Amino acid sequence: MILQNIFVLVIIAISTLRADAQYPVPIPPGGRMAVHGWLILPWNTNATEGPIQAWFSHHVPEFGADSPHNFQIVLNGLLTPLSCFNTEPIAQPIPMPYPPRDPLIQYEYTITPPPEFSLNDLLLQTLTELKGSIYNGSFDTPYERIPIALGTLTVRELTTAVYLNESTSVPSYPDLRYLSYPRDMSSSGDTKPFQHMYFAHEIHSVPDFDHIIHVSIDTTQCHCEKSSPLLCNSKKILQQIRTPGVEWSFPTLTNDFQNRLLPPTVIKGRITSGPVLCPITVLESIHCMIGPDFNHKC
Ligand SMILES: *[C@@H]1O[C@H](CO)[C@@H](O)[C@H](O)[C@H]1NC(C)=O
Ligand SMILES: *[C@@H]1O[C@H](CO)[C@@H](O)[C@H](O)[C@H]1NC(C)=O
Ligand SMILES: *[C@@H]1O[C@H](CO)[C@@H](O)[C@H](O)[C@H]1NC(C)=O
Repeated sequence: MILQNIFVLVIIAISTLRADAQYPVPIPPGGRMAVHGWLILPWNTNATEGPIQAWFSHHVPEFGADSPHNFQIVLNGLLTPLSCFNTEPIAQPIPMPYPPRDPLIQYEYTITPPPEFSLNDLLLQTLTELKGSIYNGSFDTPYERIPIALGTLTVRELTTAVYLNESTSVPSYPDLRYLSYPRDMSSSGDTKPFQHMYFAHEIHSVPDFDHIIHVSIDTTQCHCEKSSPLLCNSKKILQQIRTPGVEWSFPTLTNDFQNRLLPPTVIKGRITSGPVLCPITVLESIHCMIGPDFNHKC
């Protein structure tokens, strides 16, 4: 009996450790209570009603050991419209861009649950549904944010979740780095040579900047750095590029917000985990704020 209890305790300890092990800081349940908003980055869809599939970027993170916002997060989620009024029996489609019908996002669309919630519970994946107001705009847009709908954000996967260490001893990357997320996540997208992607500047060391852009990549123009024929066919190149959260380096640029990627730039980027190099065409800049608290526009 005692042995059994010890066994159970060990199992609990291991699973708790495992949940925390991904992060260099503890994430106790219920912690990091605050209002947390999300920038909506819609996927390609053929439907203009019903739930929207999208990437959601934590809006806004913040450096600071005591901040409840000290994570960069990009998650894969589903946004389902809720009917707003008694006079509206069925939920209306959310009035926001639906790519590829709307090729550009142009404005900032966000969802914010009005009450505080625990970011730790979201990181622990015990909290997977958030009801909130959907806005055209946010506190950092030049126009006042416009409430456009109510919706439920269902978290399907925490694709990127990184603790932001405020120590000035953390060295900045020498080169500009972005993480990428495909806009067409359908299986037919796996073989399309022309890809639209969202790129999120990788937040790593103070003060840093939070920049989200929309780019296109003509993968027929990609090539490989060294002779690695096994890695360098069009199928493998597409596979690498379409891996959500993959890291790109722009070795010709230092990692400053002054060097951020803005339209109509075309620049060669390199996937850091492999030999692939591609020209990246920047189509639009969606959101840009300067750290360490990300409340100043770039
Ligand atoms: C939309 O429909 C087209 C044509 O049927 C198809 O090729 C494409 O994969 C669809 N896109 C998505 C995101 O489902
Ligand atoms: C979002 O707001 C801007 C600024 O008011 C407006 O120009 C734009 O048309 C709005 N977008 C949609 C889809 O209504
Ligand atoms: C933050 O970075 C500093 C400097 O590299 C390191 O000593 C410290 O352990 C890090 N803190 C956490 C929580 O990872």
